[in-house]
Amino acid sequence: MEAASLCIDPSFVIGEIDDRIRGSFVEHLGRCVYGGIYEPGHERADGAGFREDVLDLVRGLRVPVVRYPGGNFVSGYKWEDGVGPVGERPRRLDLAWRSTEPNTVGMAEFAAWCAEARTEMMLAINLGTRGVDAARNVVEYANHPSGSYWSDLRAAHGARQPYDVKLWCLGNEMDGPWQIGHKTAAEYGRLASEAARAMRMVDPRIELVACGSSHSGMPTFPEWEATVLDLAYDDVDYLSLHSYYGRPYDDPADFLASALDMDGFIDSVVATCDYVRARKRRSKRMHLSFDEWNVWHRDADAQGPAAPWATAPALLENVYDVRDAVVVGSLINSLIRHADRVKIACLAQLVNVIAPIMTSNGGGAWRQTTYYPLLGAAHFARGAALQLETSGPSFDSATFGPVPMLDAAATTDGDGTFSLFLVNRDQAETLALDVDVRAVGPCEVVVHESLDPAGDPSATNTEAAADRVVTKQHTGAEVSRGHLAVSLAPLSWNVLQLRAARR
Ligand code: AHR
Repeated sequence: MEAASLCIDPSFVIGEIDDRIRGSFVEHLGRCVYGGIYEPGHERADGAGFREDVLDLVRGLRVPVVRYPGGNFVSGYKWEDGVGPVGERPRRLDLAWRSTEPNTVGMAEFAAWCAEARTEMMLAINLGTRGVDAARNVVEYANHPSGSYWSDLRAAHGARQPYDVKLWCLGNEMDGPWQIGHKTAAEYGRLASEAARAMRMVDPRIELVACGSSHSGMPTFPEWEATVLDLAYDDVDYLSLHSYYGRPYDDPADFLASALDMDGFIDSVVATCDYVRARKRRSKRMHLSFDEWNVWHRDADAQGPAAPWATAPALLENVYDVRDAVVVGSLINSLIRHADRVKIACLAQLVNVIAPIMTSNGGGAWRQTTYYPLLGAAHFARGAALQLETSGPSFDSATFGPVPMLDAAATTDGDGTFSLFLVNRDQAETLALDVDVRAVGPCEVVVHESLDPAGDPSATNTEAAADRVVTKQHTGAEVSRGHLAVSLAPLSWNVLQLRAARR
């Protein structure tokens, strides 16, 4: 097998990595909230009903920001249902997921959970069934210090200090016909602009995300982006992208090439943003919020809820194998490669629902395979993303044509530490990689971790066998005469950390 090579140079900087690209997402969907982060009566629940075992696993991922409360859920949500005395909150039909929402968890509870999880909340507002008035009110409730109706109501509800929510999403997937109150691009662009202006009048410090397309296969993509930005460019800070990868796909090789799709999607959205910028003659560059991304095998949740209108039924509970984790690793690489424009990204979702963390009701909490590349990014993706020159063997995918066996991204903290995130897409063969580190100078490998199938790409973690798939530590990657030689196991995700000698 032909070897692969890449060249790393600390002066070829793509951009500073915004920590928020390691964000996540908690939706009132299935068992993400109820039975996931929150399960009063569970032996590991704290006084507020939050599961400490789940919190431990979440804290391990060092998630900087969590999008909440949806998702499709938010387009039918009345935020007022989720504040005030819990006993007085209404039970509502959640039309998006055909479930019953008890509203036991709302803004105050989620804010308290975020504090425990050492993260910040990113709130999505309902622009499906609601509009400008509800949008400005929720900002006043969450962020205004005191002395007004909504801020005083928050204080009366027990929260004297504002929640100070910085990031706000202007609706969710409003281009999608499945969305309650879905809109044309022109309808949404106007509404997003007006809602944004009113929200900023209440709190000028907030940052706003407008909805881009639900995925790149939407018939209205990228016209949607162009029209929405035409109407709202000056009022928003970020444009959203959503994308899920998984079955059904005809060719398994296509799945392994998912990051090429993500790269192309981001590049197209960047191009569209810059087109609008040029047309409007603005200096401001639009940044991107990839606020839903993951592997999602939709055939795995085809059966739907056992009974309609249940509370917290098991929905979208994908069980991930090693192959899925390797794809998640390459999707993280794509986000790193676009560090100059993607400033926020949220893995969808955090617990139980297409998630790296699983629980059983009344039972344990465990890490899925996909937890590990996220953990690797949390520990090693720091500082600036670097432009890499790569070459090597490729394979043919029905959708993408030639796909490189090697998927790579690199970061540096600017103080002599470099991290390389490497995926070998070859399902059968080890990939020999030569890394040209001459521009780094004398250096040594201090970490080589990998996740690989060890002969079983369909291996998963379960409650009974929670640590069947874990990362392995390796020695043997050596630097000699300005070149690092490393072997990447078949179908593996790897992280290497290099430290330059002090000069
Ligand atoms: O994350 C699951 C769902 O996928 C979200 O609710 C929706 O926004 C997307 O279509």
